[in-house]
Amino acid sequence: MQLAGKIALITGTGGGQGRAAALMFARAGAIVVGCDINSDEQQCSIDLLAKEGLTLYGTTVVDLGNPTEVETWVNTAVKEHGRIDILYNNASAAKFGPIGEFSVEDWHYTIRNELDQVFYTTRFAWQYLSVNGGVIINIASTAAWGGSRKAGISAHCATKGAIVSFTRQLAVEGAISGIRAVSISPGFIKTPGTAAFIEDPIMRKAILEKVLLNRPGEPEEIAAMALFVASENGAFITGSDILIDGGMLAT
Ligand SMILES: NC(=O)c1ccc[n+]([C@@H]2O[C@H](COP(=O)([O-])OP(=O)(O)OC[C@H]3O[C@@H](n4cnc5c(N)ncnc54)[C@H](O)[C@@H]3O)[C@@H](O)[C@H]2O)c1
Repeated sequence: MQLAGKIALITGTGGGQGRAAALMFARAGAIVVGCDINSDEQQCSIDLLAKEGLTLYGTTVVDLGNPTEVETWVNTAVKEHGRIDILYNNASAAKFGPIGEFSVEDWHYTIRNELDQVFYTTRFAWQYLSVNGGVIINIASTAAWGGSRKAGISAHCATKGAIVSFTRQLAVEGAISGIRAVSISPGFIKTPGTAAFIEDPIMRKAILEKVLLNRPGEPEEIAAMALFVASENGAFITGSDILIDGGMLAT
């Protein structure tokens, strides 16, 4: 019960890592308020927690790229639960393609769904986190630190690089109010978001060639680090980016 009584807002709880995080944080005693744009998958997560007698709050569909919807989601959570202790920015959606063919629409889609939304949640939660201090966990990526010869990931590299530097500045500005801010950069993780890569044998082999541990990571392996960072165990961690990539960047 490392998070007993903590109020945790987690985005993208209908997805692979978000679902694992919702379950792990709730098992650790947190009151978890989730959200997703995909109501069916969000409902699956709600049902999954309910099977263990746990509650995933947050039933309405939220498009995190829409600032008004984000503000309502954050304010409703505070109205219902009284405060925010943890903001876990996990959700994202990106477009991929070689830079020479990448459309302006796909660029803006990626910026909206990977970067803008992290600003919105942070901006609207900041006033509440500032009251008693708190923790912001932002999910970045190894794409913040290295490129890919196989896939066109320039927009994704831009947003995830920005997440790392945005988080660092949040740590700087938040320290005086007791806010810690940490980014986590996963490598190749087995989730619905990467199913297409995992199911394509050529792509899977190409990606795993660089992973020293020769397997994709599990969503729980990212959520476990987030739990550590959010808990008292992580009380001295702020301003850092934590790589969890099975040794991918070591090569
Ligand atoms: N899976 C990987 O290999 C990997 C690697 C590095 C980084 N990441 C990062 O990890 C995080 C979680 O990814 P995942 O693999 O679990 O992906 P996922 O696709 O399984 O889950 C992402 C969730 O975010 C939701 N979402 C996207 N845009 C939204 C919006 N505008 N409003 C509300 N919800 C929205 C989706 O509906 C989905 O349920 C993401 O930030 C991703 O960039 C993943």
